[in-house]
Order: sequence, then structure tokens, then C-alpha cells
Amino acid sequence: MNLFRTMPVERSIRDTEEPEHRLRKDLSALDLTVFGVGVIIGTGIFVLTGEVAREKAGPAVAISFVIAGIVCGLAALCYAEFASTVPVAGSAYTFSFATLGEFPAWIIGWDLILELALGAAVVAVGWSGYAKSLLDSMGVHLPDSIAGEHAIFNVPAMLIVAAVTALLVIGIKVSSRLNAIVVTIKVAVILLVIVAGAFFVKGANYTPFFPKPESSPSVEGIRAPLIQGLFGITPVSYGWFGVFAAVAIVFFAFIGFDVVATAAEEARRPQRDLPIAIIASLVICTVLYIAVSLVVVGIVNYKQLNIEAPLAEAFKAVGHPGFATIISVGALAGLTTVVLILLLGQSRVFFAMSRDGLLPSWLAAVHPRFGTPYRSTVILGAIVAIMAGLIPLAALAELVNIGTLFAFVVVSIGVVILRRTRPDLPRSFRTPFVPVLPALSVLGCLFVMLNLPVETWLRFAAWMVLGSAIYFVYGRHHSRLAAPATKIDA
Ligand code: ALA
Repeated sequence: MNLFRTMPVERSIRDTEEPEHRLRKDLSALDLTVFGVGVIIGTGIFVLTGEVAREKAGPAVAISFVIAGIVCGLAALCYAEFASTVPVAGSAYTFSFATLGEFPAWIIGWDLILELALGAAVVAVGWSGYAKSLLDSMGVHLPDSIAGEHAIFNVPAMLIVAAVTALLVIGIKVSSRLNAIVVTIKVAVILLVIVAGAFFVKGANYTPFFPKPESSPSVEGIRAPLIQGLFGITPVSYGWFGVFAAVAIVFFAFIGFDVVATAAEEARRPQRDLPIAIIASLVICTVLYIAVSLVVVGIVNYKQLNIEAPLAEAFKAVGHPGFATIISVGALAGLTTVVLILLLGQSRVFFAMSRDGLLPSWLAAVHPRFGTPYRSTVILGAIVAIMAGLIPLAALAELVNIGTLFAFVVVSIGVVILRRTRPDLPRSFRTPFVPVLPALSVLGCLFVMLNLPVETWLRFAAWMVLGSAIYFVYGRHHSRLAAPATKIDA
């Protein structure tokens, strides 16, 4: 049996046109860009900025956002070509099936669970931090053990996942209008932080911009970035290694531009509009992130940054709790849609994988009344809620990042392979400078991965071993491509 049998692109596209699988195609380039911004701006900027500036990069966290933005930009140019060539819902999974073959595709589908399902858990934990900050301002003080970053049992995070899961089961459709409203609120809050915050910036907080490297217990042993272990560098925080370690975390803030590709089947003109939306949403968010991070470390000294709701707490610190309340409310609304879209994206990928027979089809069974894949949604929701309730934010985010970076690497390689194997396919967007640009994208992503802690690599390896085992026991025999009678027409 061939682990590298591929799914012809034409067949993937044709599947999306079967009446029972057809989704409505009515999203424009603008809708898709709003969708992208809606899923990109979330826990990364609202929460992780605080911890990362405080413990890893200092004020130079803004440089980390620049570097992460460049790496994502390279990957986005590769995603744009593939989305314009294979506009099918499964995103990187479908693309790998067309280029690298069934086993790599399964591995990517399995890996995307880290990005989408676990990513939803991370955002839920971030939501909990802002809920706690908001309740604090209203005089309700939740104990640290049940809410926020250090919770042992994170109740608000679990509740938000449960609520979103329920919405998905009854088939809430985030209409593009509702999404646009929430995105407007979220971007307005970010602009408020930048514009109002600029008045409270103190130049003194920027010196030193790159704090001196120092060894730190938080990055020792298996917590040390792999790159330090490989090259025998003493574990350090701050300095350039701190900036790179920060890149590996704030990368989370950029995740989502690739999720735009999961809406491919709902786009009116996917071949033209997906590339526009992927690149536009990434550029908009990168500019906002650099500005926000500069302002926040200018308002409060990096050593004093709050790690649960840093944007809101920075305003409390300079005596403006009113702004803090507005920011918290906006963050809560904005983070809710991120959880929703990530879980929805996950259900799309599961749907594509069970359509191909790599996951049991009972998972994709549709609810008789609500018309939604309720089984996979409920199982997924329960698992995500438990993860969000029990695992600390940073550890979760690191695992999401390594999984996503791995998918970016595979997509970048896939673009080059598909150029060779199927030069004939229409590509309305072509990545410039192939194969140099995809190669730089691969190197950039690998470099960021090397800056993740050793323990993240170990967890990632364990996850992949488990995924491979499931493929050999199940998917390999149940794949649609395994049936001898299947005629694979190109
Ligand atoms: N990029 C999204 C966030 O920061 C996933 O929450």
C-alpha cells in the first residue's frame, strides 16, 4: 500500500461541488479579510504580550512582533498560492493530500488539531484573564485558583468553551455582518490602546530597550529553547536570544491568516479573493501589533506588566480604570469569536478528513434537526474545555505554535512540489521567487521552532507518534483511496 498516494486536485474540487456537500458561496474579498482579522487578533496580542515582554524580551518585544510578522508573511505568500490553486475547505490538510500524499496529509490533519482545537483552548484561557480583570473592576474578585493565568481549575475558560460548543451544535452561523461588528469593536479597542495609550508613554520605560541577557530559572532544563541546548548556550532571558524566544511565543498572535483558507468553499471568487484576504489581514494585524506592543511597554515598565490582561491593566496602572473596562469588554467580545472560528475551522478539517475516510464517518454524521456535525463538535468541545481548564496558557500556546509552524513548513514545500508535479493547474496567485521564497519560509519557520522549549518538542513528538499509530491502525485501511475498486481519475 502506498503511503504517498495523492488525491487529484480536480477530485478534491469536484467533491466540493456535490450537492450534499456544497456550501454557499457568497463571501467577498472584504468579508474574507474581515474574517481573517477576526480570527487573528486575539489572545496573542491581548494577553501573551505581557508575559513575553516581562520574562523574555523586555521592550524589544516589538522587534519580536516584527520578526514573527516577516516569517508569517513568507508563509502567507505560499498559502496564498495554494489557496488559489486548491480552494477546498480542509486547508493545509487538503493541500498536502494533493501534493505529498496520504500519510503526510494525515499527519498534517492530525497536526492541525494542535493549531485549531488547542488554539481555541489558549484563547479561552486568555478570555478568562480578561473576564477576571473586568469582574475585578466591578468589585467581584475571583480567586486565582479558579480564573486567570495561574488557575488550577480555570472555570471561566471552561464555561466559554462549553458555551461556544453549544452554539456550534445548534448551528450558529457567524453571519459576516455579526462578525464585522465584533471585528470593528475589536479593532476600535486596539486603536484606543494605541491612540490613548500614546499619551501615557514614558520614554524612560524604553531604556534599556534590549535588557541585558541574564540566566533565568524560567528557561532552564527542558524549559530552555532547543536552540540553546543544541549549541550549548547557557539558558538566557532577554538579549537577542530572549527576543527570539519571544518570537516563538508571539507567533501565536499571527495564527489565523491561514484559517482564511478553510473558508475557501464559501468564497465567491476564491482564486482571486483568498490571496488578497490572506495577505491583507496579515499586514493589517502586523502593523497594529507593532504599535500596540510599543505603546504598552511604554506605559508600564516591562517588569511590572500584568500577565493576565496586560492591555487593560496598563490603563489601570496609570489611573484610568474606565479605559480598562472598555478594553476588557472589547477583548471579551473579540476573543469569543476567535474561539468560535477556530472550533468551526477544526470541524471543517474533521469533515474533510472523514469525507476522505481517514476518520470514521460517524464522526461527521449530521444532527437530524440542527444539520450540524454534532458528534465531533461535542467530543471536541469536551476535550478543549478540559485542556483549557487544566493547562497553563504559555505551555498550551507553545504547543499550538510548533504545530502551526510545522504546517507552514509543509505548505511551503508543497507549493514547490505542486509547481513541478502539476505545472498545468491554473494559479491565479503565484508565489514570487519560487523556490527561493518558499525555502526562506521553511528556514524562517524552522528557526522559530528551534526557539521553542525542549519540552514543547517532546510533547509535539509524542503527539505525532500517536497520530502515526492511529493512521496505521485505522486510516490506512479505511481511506477512500484504499478501496481497490476506486478509480482515481485525474
Ligand atoms: N491569533 C489568534 C490569537 O492571538 C489565534 O488569539
